[in-house]
Amino acid sequence: MTPGVTTAGYIAAAVLFVFGLKMLGRAETARRGNVVSAAGMLLAVAVTLLARGLALRWILAGAALGATVGAAAAMRVPMTAMPEMVGLFNGFGGLASLLVGWAEYHRWVALDQAPERPVFSAVAIVLTVLIGGVTFSGSLVAYLKLAERIPGRPLLFRGRHAVNAALAAALVAAGAALVLAPERGYPVFALLLPLALALGVLAVTPIGGADMPVVISLLNSYSGLAACAAGFVILNHVLIVAGALVGASGVILTRIMCKAMNRSLANVLFGGFGATASAAAEGARGEAKPIGADDAYILLEAARSVVFVPGYGMAVAQAQHAVRELGQRLEENGAEVRYCIHPVAGRMPGHMNVLLAEANVPYEQLVEPGDVNPTIGTVDVAIVIGANDVVNPAAREDPASPLYGMPVIHVDEARTCLVLKRSLNPGFAGVENPLFFKPNTRMLFGDAKQSVTALVAAFKDD
Ligand code: TAP
Repeated sequence: MTPGVTTAGYIAAAVLFVFGLKMLGRAETARRGNVVSAAGMLLAVAVTLLARGLALRWILAGAALGATVGAAAAMRVPMTAMPEMVGLFNGFGGLASLLVGWAEYHRWVALDQAPERPVFSAVAIVLTVLIGGVTFSGSLVAYLKLAERIPGRPLLFRGRHAVNAALAAALVAAGAALVLAPERGYPVFALLLPLALALGVLAVTPIGGADMPVVISLLNSYSGLAACAAGFVILNHVLIVAGALVGASGVILTRIMCKAMNRSLANVLFGGFGATASAAAEGARGEAKPIGADDAYILLEAARSVVFVPGYGMAVAQAQHAVRELGQRLEENGAEVRYCIHPVAGRMPGHMNVLLAEANVPYEQLVEPGDVNPTIGTVDVAIVIGANDVVNPAAREDPASPLYGMPVIHVDEARTCLVLKRSLNPGFAGVENPLFFKPNTRMLFGDAKQSVTALVAAFKDD
């Protein structure tokens, strides 16, 4: 393959990545965007293999093994465990980049094949190992926290900032030593690796489980940067482009999530959020007003405008199809129906969008909190389906609440708020919810799917 054809193939792949990413930004085009980006990656891999004339049998064996493990894991994992799987796979992306840097370094030092521009290559190798190592070990800790294999609460110790600063300084020193004397540096390299892994662990352990999605999104961005650095190590343009795109989109997603929680990134990374949440949550209790499905039906039957607010409990109960059916019954009954999705509802970005799309809820009925909040006083019934933190009025009313300042959906301002959940237990942040005790709130206790199905049945019987 001539260099011109290779370059043209890489440019086409990069264009497919960019268009695919753009299409991922809208629910209607997201599936196609995924296919377009995957086609870009297939093209990039095919062009690389043909251009470099690599030993195909090893690559095909590796690809088959990786694809089998990936497909089996993706098929087995429940939707609710998707964030930890994404976190784990991110980590492997970081590890792959680290290994590329290591292999190039080994070729240089052990096999005596020095690169053309030693300083440039040494800097790229150091960055690949550093970012790849932090991504790998940090993602493993994030995975273990989300999968509840280790405690999700922030693990804080006195002087941790000083320890991290010392570690970062040691990393810079080791990196500089390697760049200055790369060919003699295997002992230095051997130091760089554990330091980077330790930094990843120490950076993520003080962060609470509730903040893990933000951390995973940030680590996703790091895995892109590591791939980008690996692209500079082996001078592969398409790897540089793909890595930069992942790095940039990860940062954008991290920003969106921080904004949705009204927190700065520094607060997420260093704030130890959640360590004191349960202590600060006391005192919100009052008397909740339970309601049965029959009375809830009477309420809904009279409603002219209804807003559904889904949350993590809808995913647990797999109630999305029943919710869609209830929405249809309400529309047939003459009500205007909308579904308001909070950006951090559920356990991963877009979690509720995916579930509601699966249940064929029309896209035009999906609205954002900013569209609903200003006029929510005119809504007859806000139906909260297994959501908790994202509708907690303490975020607006109680400066002592750990959630204070987080933009939430103002369901308590609707004429009536119907909350479907199993108990008065708090949500992910571990913070009590005064919504349950408001005068216009009615609690329909039970599994969300069973409760919604009972409401649908009541409409059918009528
Ligand atoms: P949560 O605050 O976690 O509340 C979910 C509620 O669902 C629980 O209080 C639970 O109450 C209820 N529930 C569980 N199973 C149920 C079932 N079978 N039927 C009915 N209800 C059920 O959820 P949210 O409002 O969606 O907020 C998300 C939280 O997770 C936020 O704190 C967010 O920061 C965090 N987070 C978000 C993400 C992203 S990116 N989306 C990722 C990780 C964490 P009962 O036990 O009483 O039923």
